[in-house]
Amino acid sequence: MSVSSPDVVQKLLVRYERLIEISQQLNSTLDLTSLLKQIVSAATELTDSEASSILLLDDISGELRFELASNMAPSETDNIIVPLEGSIAGWVVTHGEARVIQDTSREPSFFKTVDEQLEFRTRNLLAVPLKARSKVVGALEAVNKVAGERFNSDDIKTLTILAGQAAIAIENAKLFQQSDFMSEMVHELRTPLLALKTSTTLLLRSDLPGHRSSEIITTMQGETERLIQLTNEYLDLARFESGRAKLDIRPFELSRLLHECIEIVQPQAAEHDITFLKDAREVEVAGDRGKIKQVILNLLTNAIKYNRDNGQVALRTELVDESDLQMVEIAVEDTGYGISKENQRSMFQKFFRGSDTANFTTGTGLGLVIAKHIIEGHGGLIWLDSEVGLGTTFFLTLPLANPEIRPLTAL
Ligand SMILES: Nc1ncnc2c1ncn2[C@@H]1O[C@H](COP(=O)(O)OP(=O)(O)OP(=O)(O)O)[C@@H](O)[C@H]1O
Ligand SMILES: [Mg+2]
Repeated sequence: MSVSSPDVVQKLLVRYERLIEISQQLNSTLDLTSLLKQIVSAATELTDSEASSILLLDDISGELRFELASNMAPSETDNIIVPLEGSIAGWVVTHGEARVIQDTSREPSFFKTVDEQLEFRTRNLLAVPLKARSKVVGALEAVNKVAGERFNSDDIKTLTILAGQAAIAIENAKLFQQSDFMSEMVHELRTPLLALKTSTTLLLRSDLPGHRSSEIITTMQGETERLIQLTNEYLDLARFESGRAKLDIRPFELSRLLHECIEIVQPQAAEHDITFLKDAREVEVAGDRGKIKQVILNLLTNAIKYNRDNGQVALRTELVDESDLQMVEIAVEDTGYGISKENQRSMFQKFFRGSDTANFTTGTGLGLVIAKHIIEGHGGLIWLDSEVGLGTTFFLTLPLANPEIRPLTAL
């Protein structure tokens, strides 16, 4: 062991005390997003670096992806896949060992793409594996030691200890997320399955009158549809949550799509004498047409399902400025029962269904969660405004295909 000055020893003691404190915090967090935030800020603090990042191996594809970085917005980290060969993080993950690069400009295996994309300069780098129960699940990186210093052996030790605690906390949060979602999902599947089971038992009875059997078959058809919708929505959501869902972004004309959506839901609206008002002019949007259609259809179906007989649904578009970017805002307005302030907060949560509405309509409570993933995946926003007794308006924004040549006026 090298002999250290009292100052250095004192600094190390403070650091280890902080490490213990942070480890305790990590162990008590089960929400993955806030956990990752805590880990990167701890890594930056404990190693005196400019920035830190977490990369995780995707369970299914095996790809190594940036999960969170203190110097990048989440939208910037989303699409960066880091190669397992030809990157420091890849080396750390495949070898399960720490690695320090004191000068990235002299290191051929440094993966430059991230710096180039972010216009950031990584001078030096310390990367350690995230190991949970002897399995490597990703890497934790600290970038640019402050004041022009070099990463030393104490930094390696500290970051390795932090990574060990972080990896276990990440695995626990993931397991918690899965079990939570799975139990809710199984619960949702049980209702249509039980209805199907009861129906088949009834159908087998020899004393069943003929007209009853066709009624039962209609019920079975409805429940089967529900099961299909539920499993499709579940798969959609699982793809979005694991980052495997890819958007196929191309320019398309929005008002034609809105028209198509109204045509589809028209028969459902007619059953309740609900009329439509459409006020949308032609505008080219950059987006995944199929996925946006899914969002609009869900908003329109909701506006019909949660409306009153003889009600109205209005669909409007407008050009707006959103943090210096020109976007199109779509509004879906209904004359339904509205949503209480308390329910408004839960609107984009998985399986949430308003207790007042859940009794008289069918639905999975996943539609809006998926809509949020899709719209945010396009760099847009989705929100609502509602007045109990009057109605609800859902708003969403999408990027224009040619923002610079559009005049900034209402459509
Ligand atoms: N326009 C609306 N007016 C009143 N309540 C609404 C409206 N839109 C949604 N809600 C409430 O929000 C809940 C969640 O909506 P969401 O679209 O996510 O699920 P769902 O319609 O129940 O099922 P599905 O997954 O089939 O769309 C609904 O169950 C309903 O209680
Ligand atoms: Mg819905």
